[in-house]
Amino acid sequence: MDILNIIFLGPPGAGKGTQAKKIAEEFDIPQISTGDIFRKNLKEGTELGLKAKAYMDKGLLVPDEIVVAIVEDRLKQPDCKQGFILDGFPRTVVQAEALDKVLEKMKTRITHVINLQVSRDELIDRLTGRRVCKSCGATYHMKYDPPQKSGVCDKCGGLLIQRDDDRVATVEKRLDVYEKQTQPLIEFYKNKGLLRTIDGQQPIENVFADIKGELGSDN
Ligand code: AP5
Ligand code: MG
Ligand code: ZN
Repeated sequence: MDILNIIFLGPPGAGKGTQAKKIAEEFDIPQISTGDIFRKNLKEGTELGLKAKAYMDKGLLVPDEIVVAIVEDRLKQPDCKQGFILDGFPRTVVQAEALDKVLEKMKTRITHVINLQVSRDELIDRLTGRRVCKSCGATYHMKYDPPQKSGVCDKCGGLLIQRDDDRVATVEKRLDVYEKQTQPLIEFYKNKGLLRTIDGQQPIENVFADIKGELGSDN
C-alpha cells in the first residue's frame, strides 16, 4: 500500500484524537498528538510541560518554534517511516511551512489532510462533556461515548477526569484562537490539493468510515 502521511485538521473537540487513534490502529501507523505530548510532559514535570501549561491553561497556542522542534524530532523516529498521523499539528501557517521544509529534508510529503467539520455549539457540548483517563489517556464523553462504569476507564480501570482546558471559559477562547490562527490552514491545504473535508457531526463510526473512504480512494 502507498504511504499515508496524514494531518488531522479541525477545531478543538472535532474528534481529531478519537479518529486519529482508530486510524492509527487500522493502518498500523503512529498517532502524533502535540497536545498529548505536552500533557505527558506536564505529568512528568518536565520544563517543557510547565512551559506549555502556561499557554494551554489560557487556551492559547504554544509558540511555533517550540512545537516545530518537538514534531521534527518525533518525525525522525524510525516508526514514522511507514507513515504517520499528525493530530493537532500544524495549527498555524508558520508551522505548516516549517513542516513542509522538515518533510522535504526527509524526502517525503503529506499525502492527506483530513478536515473534520463540526458546528460551534456541538464543539462546546463535546469539550465540556469530555472525560479522559488519568492513567492511560483514553477519551470518553459523558453522553456520546460513556464508559461502562461511570468515572472509570474501560481499558485500564483508571480514574476519569476533566482536562483543565475543558472548562467553558477556556473552551470559548480555544475556539476563537482556532478561528483566527488555524482556520487559514484550510485554504493553505486546499491550494495544495490535499484537503478532504469530512462531516464530523455524525456518529463516531460513520466519521471513521468516511475517513477510511478518503484514505483508500487515491494517492
Ligand atoms: P490539543 O490537545 O490538540 O487539543 P485541541 O486541538 O483543542 O483538540 P482536542 O483534543 O480538544 O479535541 P479533538 O479534536 O482531539 O477531539 P476528541 O477526539 O478528544 O491541544 C491542547 C493545547 O495544546 C492547545 O490549546 C495548545 O495550547 C497546545 N497545542 C497543541 N498543539 C499545538 C500546536 N500545534 N501549536 C501550538 N500549541 C499547541 O473529541 C472531543 C470529545 O467529543 C470527546 O469527549 C469525544 O468522546 C467526543 N466525540 C468525538 N467524536 C464524536 C462524535 N462523532 N460524536 C459525538 N461525540 C464525539
Ligand atoms: Mg485531541
Ligand atoms: Zn485508562
